[in-house]
Amino acid sequence: MKGLILAGGKGTRLRPITFSMAKQLVPVANKPVVEYGLEAMAAAGIREFGVITGDTGPEVEAALGDGSRWGVSITYIPQDAPRGLAHAVQTALPFLGESDFLMYLGDNLIKSSLQRLVDEFQAHRPAATILLTPVSNPSDFGVAEMEDGRVTRLEEKPAEPRSNLALVGVYLFDRRVHEVIQRLKPSRRGEYEITDAIQGLIDEGHTVRSHIVDGWWKDTGTVEAMLEANRLILEDLVGRLDGEVDERSSLHGRVVLGAGSRVLNSVVRGPVVIGAGCHIEDSYVGPFTAIDDGSRVVRTELEYSIVMRDCVLEGLPHRLEGSLLGRGVSATASTARPRTLQLVMGDNSSAVIP
Ligand code: G1P
Repeated sequence: MKGLILAGGKGTRLRPITFSMAKQLVPVANKPVVEYGLEAMAAAGIREFGVITGDTGPEVEAALGDGSRWGVSITYIPQDAPRGLAHAVQTALPFLGESDFLMYLGDNLIKSSLQRLVDEFQAHRPAATILLTPVSNPSDFGVAEMEDGRVTRLEEKPAEPRSNLALVGVYLFDRRVHEVIQRLKPSRRGEYEITDAIQGLIDEGHTVRSHIVDGWWKDTGTVEAMLEANRLILEDLVGRLDGEVDERSSLHGRVVLGAGSRVLNSVVRGPVVIGAGCHIEDSYVGPFTAIDDGSRVVRTELEYSIVMRDCVLEGLPHRLEGSLLGRGVSATASTARPRTLQLVMGDNSSAVIP
């Protein structure tokens, strides 16, 4: 079985972060989100990967390399425009050939092993296996209708969903899906939908199996979802201290501190992951926070946040919460009197100022 990871798309709902980085590379607990999927697929025995890329292709390629870090091989497959998931599969046809394949949307994160799914697929030989999970906002996803435990109908982002079962971004297919994709028409949003292709398989009488996800699942397409994914990954964090903590500091719960990092006169309340070469001084770092390599946090309180690498947070007058800060961000207290705000913000940036 081959693996197909989709790492194109524009990531509009994660702007401004995605103006300068691929949404699949935004770090969750200091690791690019796409690596979680890749690792789960490699753990299920997949060795040959195709990665579909868009405008951010070079960055994705630089991050994942040739796959040798995971003992797999990666073929990069540029998609000329984001014309839908089924179009991505069509673009990957020369790579996929006649093989079965597991397709994983690079911004999705699921906590459940893929091994059982792969084994089951190979034992039962359906045309497709899909994963489903109940959600409160089904209109934002592909939605499945079930009858007697079987999927009878699938609809992409329906205005009036007939169930609360969303399609999770992990699918298994055999070669039969390619024939259906050949005949697909673009949807209302102008894309070739994989949801429609699966419906096509059902219409032609092929078997489509479904599973309800047993762990959690996140589509990390929004800031809120990204922070939630970070929290869920940190829930399982195993503490490890490779850096230095002075005697005026106290660490509580599970904390990872990378090599060359220093914590001085601060309180860190886990689960928290701090990368390598960070400097934390006179600060409070609270639960569900990830601070990436080379960042500096001084006289600042923060929690439930993602701070990417090489950020500087200094003397902030209020506790930071629920924040997502890109690489090299600098946030410092204003020294001007009377208190003023100086903002330099790009298109679609957001700031909440108390
Ligand atoms: C895609 C699929 C949708 C699925 C979702 C999961 O949506 O089209 O059926 O439920 O991924 O993340 P998109 O992310 O393209 O809006």
